[in-house]
Amino acid sequence: MKRVFSGFQPTGDLHIGNYLGAMVNYIALGEKLGQDAIYCIVDYHAPTNPVAYDKDLLRQRTFEAALVNIAAGLDPNKVILFVQSHVPEHTELAWIFTTQTPYGDLTRMTQFKDKAAKLESVPAGLLMYPVLMAADILLYKADTVPVGDDQTQHLELTREIARRWNQTYGETFPEPEIYLNPHAPRVPGIDGKAKMSKSVGNTIGLLEDEESIWAKIRTMPDDPARIRLSDPGDPERSVVFKFLQYFAPPELVQVLREEYRRRGIGTLVVKQLLMQEMMKTLRPIRERAEELRAHPERVLGALEEGAAKARRIAQATMEEVREKFGLLRPR
Ligand code: TYM
Repeated sequence: MKRVFSGFQPTGDLHIGNYLGAMVNYIALGEKLGQDAIYCIVDYHAPTNPVAYDKDLLRQRTFEAALVNIAAGLDPNKVILFVQSHVPEHTELAWIFTTQTPYGDLTRMTQFKDKAAKLESVPAGLLMYPVLMAADILLYKADTVPVGDDQTQHLELTREIARRWNQTYGETFPEPEIYLNPHAPRVPGIDGKAKMSKSVGNTIGLLEDEESIWAKIRTMPDDPARIRLSDPGDPERSVVFKFLQYFAPPELVQVLREEYRRRGIGTLVVKQLLMQEMMKTLRPIRERAEELRAHPERVLGALEEGAAKARRIAQATMEEVREKFGLLRPR
């Protein structure tokens, strides 16, 4: 592993699915690789989904996304953290890749199909979304991409784009590998279904207030087969236990599992412990977020420095790409 790259969409309310699935890996890899850990807030991806995009909120959400990541432990003095639109080479490379990517490779993307099915008018940008994502990664010649497993298909397409380019224009890009958090490749929603996702409305926000989090945990579904306390409980089928595993020490989870199976404890107690353990992770993030909010210049300064560093790498790659692609350069 020489260089990692990852991107996240600018939403103000990053949730624990984002945190466990991706952000914890950003932080860990950042500690290891320093400036070779490159993280990007992908503001040009946001408008591809008209349901979520709002021009009056994009700027604030971009700022918030940076703030939350820094509050969660990403150190912008160690890694490179920047905003996609501050480095115009992303869209330039995306266009070049667009001309080289078969239309059929894009229409078969499941995320495209799911999102497009919900829209009356589908922006062409939604189809091109994974091409821009490939450009994000390959611009930095990254070999490792920490993401949640919902991005697996997009990563395969990125590898395909790199492979095709290398065959046609000469060896340029590594074929990047996906890097999952083995403990949380896909965090389910608090409704126990599918994945935690803002569009489904089944999230717990990293900065959500405690009362609201407790209201959600309190009403989480239990093992559907357990109706009375006297019914045997199966922790494997309980979404409460799933979340407990993410936040509580394994020894505590083990004890609770056994008690739950023996019908020694009710779900409410497990939920109270889950709340307690989850807040041990979330409270310090919240405190650091408050601190940063009082000093927005720290966040903006970090993004400015990040963009300058990212751009140096991006410009070098584009020089090579333009040359190999056969473009006439200005004198
Ligand atoms: P985005 O913004 O939807 O999500 C950011 C990261 O969070 C992960 N994630 C999850 N992981 C586990 N369980 C969940 N429930 C969950 N929900 C979200 C996502 O997998 C992601 O890693 N297409 C990307 C953004 C992107 C990108 C890139 C990523 C654009 N260019 C280049 C990597 C490299 C996306 O929409 O992530």
